[in-house]
Amino acid sequence: MIESNFEGKPLLTPQEIKGECKDVCVASLDNPANNVEWTLAEMLNRPETLKRAVDELDRAVGKDRLVQESDIPNLNYIKACCRESYRLHTVAPFLPPHVATEDTSLGGYLVPKGSHVLVNRILLGRNPKIWEDPEVFKPERHLNGDGCSEKVSLMEAEMRFVTFGTGRRGCIGAKVGTYMTVMLLARLLQGFTWKLPPSSGSSPGRIELVESPTSLLMAKSLVLSVEPRLAPHMYPQFRN
Ligand code: HEM
Repeated sequence: MIESNFEGKPLLTPQEIKGECKDVCVASLDNPANNVEWTLAEMLNRPETLKRAVDELDRAVGKDRLVQESDIPNLNYIKACCRESYRLHTVAPFLPPHVATEDTSLGGYLVPKGSHVLVNRILLGRNPKIWEDPEVFKPERHLNGDGCSEKVSLMEAEMRFVTFGTGRRGCIGAKVGTYMTVMLLARLLQGFTWKLPPSSGSSPGRIELVESPTSLLMAKSLVLSVEPRLAPHMYPQFRN
């Protein structure tokens, strides 16, 4: 239903509604797809992380039903993997530009009113003053203690890296973005065993983690071989 103002006129035109729908589709596709592609690549290069994530799924969900959004609170390690990948591999290098509406002091620096502010997501996420071994994929860094008691979130209000941004102009889709990212990875890991294809061209047992020269996507699309790891009836759409 199109919302109306008190004079009965729609507040949004059909064209604006179409624009909003397009925004939602674009915003919800590129971030999770890029995140999960990098996460799988990083995990295959560190098989112990892959094993730990799959073990968590088997423990929290089992093999007799598909993982659901309601399982997400119990998938802290999977969330830590997505979070670590958002730290290392953002889909865009900068946040959208912002303008300071008043003189602001930030980290001891004066940002005068009217300044254009461009936040570098890569430098934040890989800042060696904040992150130990910043270039290394270590999901464990986001877990406290045994990793099961602390709830892991993909949001980062302290801006030590940027997933959704924060404050008034932060992402409005953080919750749905979290669900889409975690569900995508969790379903792929639960449903399939992932391996390097025999003739992958990569050095033995390793994927080249190289960014494209023109974007932050993987330079070469990730090609892996998969085998089902659940019983056949769990894949109804592939049955005759
Ligand atoms: C995992 C998925 C997503 C990620 C990582 C993501 C990330 C971001 C980031 C970094 C910003 C800029 C924040 C800033 O400038 O401080 C942003 C803005 C925004 N996002 Fe998302 N987003 C995701 C999904 C979505 C979804 C699903 C929607 C819509 C339902 C959405 C709608 C928006 C809108 C409308 C803004 C602009 C907010 C404003 O300027 O006030 N995003 N997002």
